[in-house]
Amino acid sequence: MSIDDIDSKLIDILKKDARTPASKIADVLGISRMTVKNRMKRLEDLGIIRQYTLMLGVKPLVSAPAQARKVERVKSGVPGFDELCEGGLPKSTTTLLRGPPGAGKTIFGFQFLYNGYKEYGEPGALIALQDSPSDLLTFASTLGMNLDTSKIAIISPFSPETIVHERADYETMALNFEKTVEEAIMQAGAERVVIDPITIFLSRFEDIYTRRREIYLINNFLRSRGCTSIMIAEHYDQTDYVLESYVAQNVIVMKYSTEGSHRKKELEILKMFATDHSRGLHPYWITKNGLKIEPST
Ligand SMILES: Nc1ncnc2c1ncn2[C@@H]1O[C@H](COP(=O)(O)OP(=O)(O)OP(=O)(O)O)[C@@H](O)[C@H]1O
Ligand SMILES: [Mg+2]
Repeated sequence: MSIDDIDSKLIDILKKDARTPASKIADVLGISRMTVKNRMKRLEDLGIIRQYTLMLGVKPLVSAPAQARKVERVKSGVPGFDELCEGGLPKSTTTLLRGPPGAGKTIFGFQFLYNGYKEYGEPGALIALQDSPSDLLTFASTLGMNLDTSKIAIISPFSPETIVHERADYETMALNFEKTVEEAIMQAGAERVVIDPITIFLSRFEDIYTRRREIYLINNFLRSRGCTSIMIAEHYDQTDYVLESYVAQNVIVMKYSTEGSHRKKELEILKMFATDHSRGLHPYWITKNGLKIEPST
């Protein structure tokens, strides 16, 4: 297995670039192209050249920067709100809507469902835990929203007796709750869900662990169905960030403040998933046409 000086020069050239054309090697070594090919063949046969390998630079190995993922938005149906949060609520997330009595939480929920179907063709489900479906239909109609129950299912998972009865089996209630919500979602093919108010359900679970587990399960359940949901929560102390606020992806707080002899209503987005949302307090009004938010702070 002897190689001469020309062979070793040929190997040196191929070590630098295995794809150097035979014609170029021939020029450098002062031999014919055919001789180059014959010598290469001989070196291969002898096992001196075993293979021509490919060496990659760093660049091709570095994957292209990940495409920025876009957060899909669901229009709230509340005038002035979507401007505060990059065009709407992040799709398939859960929003906790908190506020004191009479703040307009239920009305916000109505508009989310009613306009959700009317304007965007997205069916919904309203899980009524406090008021009867009949009262809610009447209430909505006084605000000009005639809810079509084939497109917006309204269900009351529990009778008022179950809710208030001291000895109710709340573990069973939790299981039934999920089942009933699922039925409501199926019934209307709901993409939007409002639970009004979740507080009633959660308040029955006294220990913090169970309460957290329940809110976590409901949140996961709704998200796994692809629903964009609003959980309405009662809220007395504005500094009390209840457990639900941590589990939900988005938190909207409705507040009262006094201005002279008037009670002023303001809304704040406390947090919102992957959204550069407004950090301000936004005055809002409730009229016979529903709730409307002033976008500028
Ligand atoms: N048809 C209407 N026209 C004008 N304003 C109305 C009308 N209906 C209700 N409101 C106003 O909205 C308030 C009730 O709003 P809503 O029921 O949404 O509050 P909420 O936050 O859900 O309260 P709660 O926690 O007690 O359920 C009323 O107190 C009233 O001020
Ligand atoms: Mg209400």
